[in-house]
Amino acid sequence: IKDALIDGPLKGQHVLVTSGPTHEPIDPVRYIANRSSGAQGTAIAEALMRLGAEVTFVTGPASVPAPLGARVIRVETADQMLRAVEKALPVDAAVFAAAVADWRVAGASNSKIKKQAGKLPTLEFAENPDILARVSQMSEGRPKLVVGFAAETDDVIANATAKRVRKGCDWIVANDVRPETGIMGGQENKVTVVKADSAEDWPRMSKTDVSDRLAAEIAAALA
Ligand code: CTP
Ligand code: CA
Repeated sequence: IKDALIDGPLKGQHVLVTSGPTHEPIDPVRYIANRSSGAQGTAIAEALMRLGAEVTFVTGPASVPAPLGARVIRVETADQMLRAVEKALPVDAAVFAAAVADWRVAGASNSKIKKQAGKLPTLEFAENPDILARVSQMSEGRPKLVVGFAAETDDVIANATAKRVRKGCDWIVANDVRPETGIMGGQENKVTVVKADSAEDWPRMSKTDVSDRLAAEIAAALA
């Protein structure tokens, strides 16, 4: 409520941010997930609110606290995240920072799978919906600006550029998440922002600074 009153270039604009990992159950006590602290998505939501935006924050089970002042919707699975995102629309802009699991376990068990010596379980997977692609390709009510992320370990720019076109989003924030970069789980990020006709290489900076700069660019794009 307080943040809705902040005067800034994003005042009156509603921005959706997805953040954190999703957890896909194997059984009631086990899951598969992506590695994500939710730090970058949370920092982006906070930066957008500092510029006056109203933020709806759809988050999987993250390890950092959700941003104060946002409308927070907590989900666990990719399917739940898609439904929460669809419910939050329409918005002026959307930033998809979540590390969504690409697959869920097909036929997850309602009861705990018991360990049996020498007998290994086999998991079968089903494909999860691509939330970013769905929203980017909406024929009606698409946000004016859709921003995706691409965490890569190889051919970062080429993969991110292809991803932007394939999914149909406006910008992709690409980063190199090889363990030796220290970016996953750390305080800093080094990103390249891929747009329709540019790839802007930003210097390594704090996740807060990346977020402030991204929020400023979003404000400029919506103005
Ligand atoms: N994303 C999403 N829903 C999914 C998978 C990804 O919304 N089911 C979004 C992420 O939030 C991110 C972007 O899509 O903004 C890119 O995610 P990424 O995992 O890098 O892309 P994929 O197409 O899944 O490709 P891959 O994992 O094979 O690199
Ligand atoms: Ca993926």
